[in-house]
Amino acid sequence: MIIQFCGLSGSGKSTIAGRVKELLKEEGHKVEIIDGDEYRKVLCPDLGFSKQDRNQNIRRLAFVASKLSAYDIVAIICAINPYDEIRQEVKAIYPHVITIYINCNLETLVERDTKGLYKKALLPDGHPDKITNLTGVNDPFEPPNEPDLVLNTADESINESVAKLANYIMQFLK
Ligand code: ADX
Repeated sequence: MIIQFCGLSGSGKSTIAGRVKELLKEEGHKVEIIDGDEYRKVLCPDLGFSKQDRNQNIRRLAFVASKLSAYDIVAIICAINPYDEIRQEVKAIYPHVITIYINCNLETLVERDTKGLYKKALLPDGHPDKITNLTGVNDPFEPPNEPDLVLNTADESINESVAKLANYIMQFLK
């Protein structure tokens, strides 16, 4: 099974994936997290943040996920994954792909700003440190049309989100 996350930076994707992995492991299942930040360093260092590059990034992560999934490893693609076109492509190419929308409003993300990216994106135009293509601020994020599950991390606790996702996945596992 391939779980493709989509959601803005800081929405809780990595935290949720990590906790769900632990829960499923306790139940005897194999899980691998394919994390955008990590894979950008080793497998996708040539890619930036244009639409084309982001889609290519997801294409590569999904390919890795498909190889793991074929051996009954639950593969979680943990990336912003902002464009509907590539999410649909992943669903169309590979069997049993589940799309999870990790939803969080921008005000909460700006407040959390764990990586300091939002602060940089909100700097005045022309500032030398300004990020000009941060997803959700000055770069697009297309909410998925028909996600299999939505986790609202601004409104629900991490424990609630983790339990929802773990239960959702477990219904498909032997
Ligand atoms: S994706 O859009 O191609 O799916 P991915 O999840 O791999 O993105 O990488 C996002 C991570 O890159 C963020 O968590 C953040 O740490 C970093 N990053 C750096 N610049 C940007 C940017 N302009 N937009 C989004 N993320 C960025």
